[in-house]
Amino acid sequence: MFSRASSTSLHLVCFTTTMQTVLAAAEVDFTQYVNVFMGSTGGGNRFPGVAASPFAMAKLGPDVQSGSTDAYSGYLASGNVWGFSMTHESGTGGAPKYGVVSQMPVVGNVSNPLADLSQSRASADEGQIGYYKTSLNNGVTVELSATEHAGLYQYTFPSGSPSTIVVDVSHVLPSFRGLGWEQHYTGGNFSSFSDGHYEGSGTYNNGWNLSPDWTLYFCGKFSQEPTSSKTFTGTGTTLSSYDSTAMVSGSERLGGIFTFDDANLASRVGISFISSEKACQNLDSEIQADTTLQSLVTKAKSAWNSQILSKIEVEGGSDEDTQLLYSSLLGMFMIPSNKTGENPEWTSSEPYYDDIFTLWDTHRCHTALFQILEPVAYEEFIRSLIDIWRHDGFMPDARSSNYNGRVQGGSNADNVLADAYVKGVRGAVNWDDGFSAMQTDAEKTPPNNNDPKSPESSTKEGRGALPDWLRYGYITPSYNRAVSRAVEYSTNDFGLYQVAKGLGRNEDETTYLNRSRNWRNHWNPAASSTNHSGFVVPRRADGTFVTQDPLSCGGCYWGDAYYEDNPWVYSLNAIHDVYTMKEYIGGDEKFIDRIDKLWDLNIFNAGNEPSFTSPYLYNFVKGAQWRTVERSRGIGKLYNSGATGLPGNSDAGAMEANLLWQMIGLYPMTGQTTFLVLSPWFPKLTINLGNGKSLKITTTGGNKDTAFYVQSLKVNGESWNKAWVSWEDVFADGGTMDFVLGSSPVDWATGELPPSPASADNDG
Ligand SMILES: *[C@@H]1O[C@H](CO)[C@@H](O)[C@H](O)[C@H]1NC(C)=O
Ligand SMILES: *[C@@H]1O[C@H](CO)[C@@H](O)[C@H](O)[C@H]1NC(C)=O
Ligand SMILES: *[C@@H]1O[C@H](CO)[C@@H](O)[C@H](O)[C@H]1NC(C)=O
Ligand SMILES: *[C@@H]1O[C@H](CO)[C@@H](O)[C@H](O)[C@H]1NC(C)=O
Ligand SMILES: *[C@@H]1O[C@H](CO)[C@@H](O)[C@H](O)[C@H]1NC(C)=O
Repeated sequence: MFSRASSTSLHLVCFTTTMQTVLAAAEVDFTQYVNVFMGSTGGGNRFPGVAASPFAMAKLGPDVQSGSTDAYSGYLASGNVWGFSMTHESGTGGAPKYGVVSQMPVVGNVSNPLADLSQSRASADEGQIGYYKTSLNNGVTVELSATEHAGLYQYTFPSGSPSTIVVDVSHVLPSFRGLGWEQHYTGGNFSSFSDGHYEGSGTYNNGWNLSPDWTLYFCGKFSQEPTSSKTFTGTGTTLSSYDSTAMVSGSERLGGIFTFDDANLASRVGISFISSEKACQNLDSEIQADTTLQSLVTKAKSAWNSQILSKIEVEGGSDEDTQLLYSSLLGMFMIPSNKTGENPEWTSSEPYYDDIFTLWDTHRCHTALFQILEPVAYEEFIRSLIDIWRHDGFMPDARSSNYNGRVQGGSNADNVLADAYVKGVRGAVNWDDGFSAMQTDAEKTPPNNNDPKSPESSTKEGRGALPDWLRYGYITPSYNRAVSRAVEYSTNDFGLYQVAKGLGRNEDETTYLNRSRNWRNHWNPAASSTNHSGFVVPRRADGTFVTQDPLSCGGCYWGDAYYEDNPWVYSLNAIHDVYTMKEYIGGDEKFIDRIDKLWDLNIFNAGNEPSFTSPYLYNFVKGAQWRTVERSRGIGKLYNSGATGLPGNSDAGAMEANLLWQMIGLYPMTGQTTFLVLSPWFPKLTINLGNGKSLKITTTGGNKDTAFYVQSLKVNGESWNKAWVSWEDVFADGGTMDFVLGSSPVDWATGELPPSPASADNDG
């Protein structure tokens, strides 16, 4: 997704430890190189609060209000804090999601808990992995840490006044965009018990995925007994009740107020999508009364170190590049959420992952790196996608609050499954079911969900424009986003071809390879723009093309022919059929010029996913790999480890994964085993692949900033003259890649071109 960046000031964080040049997994705390605020402002929308581990369900952080600015992850650098809540989604566009099960500290007695209790901040927030701190102007300091399903709030109040905590069940992140994607609170329950603990639930709906009502349960405990505990109900800011009633429920705003004499106070909250009993169990098993904040911080750091950060080790890079690498790794794994055991929709022995936001963003390069860095979770994630199909009827393209939606283009879970399949993900994955799930996308039109932004066909799941795809082999303008959907349906069908081939389903293999070429049916050789002709354009049922300026995508949104990018970009997106694109565009030189024009015409957008793979397609022309390297370096310059360090929305870590591939010096062709060769950033970078295997990448002779052209390459010790490697070459059993870099281009990649598996003759 894509929303325009607003300019905000850079948020600085102090790194308490001096950078070391040599990092060794066993001894090093890699979290010291992480700026949790990277990409949190300036349109990155990353969540800087506490996620105790990759995929943690609880994400505890501040909710900030500032005029009519949408706080996608809850956080904004400036504005008033109006609560600290247990659930957030990191890095998304569209509209804010979650921000529920909130509490707000108030100094003194509270006369109206429904009034604006928000507070400005006395200083900038601080954070590390597993730790977050906010100092409010009312003198209260809030320190946070968390576990997978629970959070710990450590409060320091000014002494001399009662310390009050307001739990407002109606609190949910708002959206001011006016697009109909704002969340709503529809009702809740709140009960306080004589031992001082409380339980309840809140029900909410909508958000970008247009979800129906969903309920989150909570269970809260305090470090001491409150001197008073009350419940309240009301509408707007008008109270209906405010008294010592133990239990309130209904559709009005409601919650509880707890007052203490002590200035130091800890509050523990467990959450669950199943029941308030389960929320209490989650709390009691993960955070006990004597659990210290520091012990949770240590645990979180250890989880991030062992599961993610230690998977990549570097030597010899600059401090900034090292910080950028580890801060990007954090952002890449803030979602999805592992909700195994927390699925209210069905019972299953399969794993369950939610908060997929979205595969449209992540399938291009994030999921390929997810598999390499966290293969255990990745296999669970694939099984979960298939299990969602088993019980919901379709795999998601996006999903949160246990509900599929929305689909921007194709059914990109097909690409994700294909990528996993061709790279050997097996384990407990049932691939017959996996293929059936893909075939559902390819053959079954999903029921229309009547999305006001695109009422003609489903945006919930699957392929809404499938009837045209099956009937014509292209998509007519009677469907929205016809051209960009068609290009994606081609890549989706290519995914089916890959898995069918592997499973020995020969008839399906032939069918879907053929269908993967249907992007060609949108190609109008006569459409021209800036000395180039041939672009994907809208096509009518009678076979004629619609006149289309290749530089324009109209509104470029839900109701237009192209989604979020123009014909120039989508005309380069059939990455399984590059030789055909090359031929249609007019051969090698024209192809190079076509890619160059993305920059000359200011079309390329590093901050949005449809452009992601285009800069590296030069590798499909002999002697042009150096152009890929120049583009890659240019893209790297758009990032930094600061608060405004992402060139677009993080998009569930897609933006960070894109950068990490530049650093590694490879780029995945999703759905294939091919990785295009770029130019690595570090003198030495090791990817730990598990089971004692690793990929060791070295660069000598040049450097990242001024002498970065590849002069020569050895793969596994042998001279290499191809601008690509395969999964088997370097990842399946590990391997080595030794680059010599220099200050000017050398024609080193004289060998075989990368495969173009859907093209008729696979020889370039
Ligand atoms: C707060 O309320 C309690 C009882 O509800 C009362 O005893 C106390 O005086 C109040 N404190 C202040 C500072 O208003
Ligand atoms: C309150 O909780 C009960 C039991 O969990 C549930 O049946 C009811 O729908 C809830 N009420 C609201 C308004 O959420
Ligand atoms: C996901 O959650 C389940 C249940 O808590 C757990 O058993 C599993 O190990 C988790 N997966 C990962 C990769 O942490
Ligand atoms: C390939 O698709 C075209 C329609 O695009 C169809 O006419 C043709 O029969 C298909 N061929 C095979 C072998 O399926
Ligand atoms: C188009 O090509 C002509 C002839 O090669 C060249 O002079 C002109 O500058 C080109 N125009 C653009 C916009 O690239």
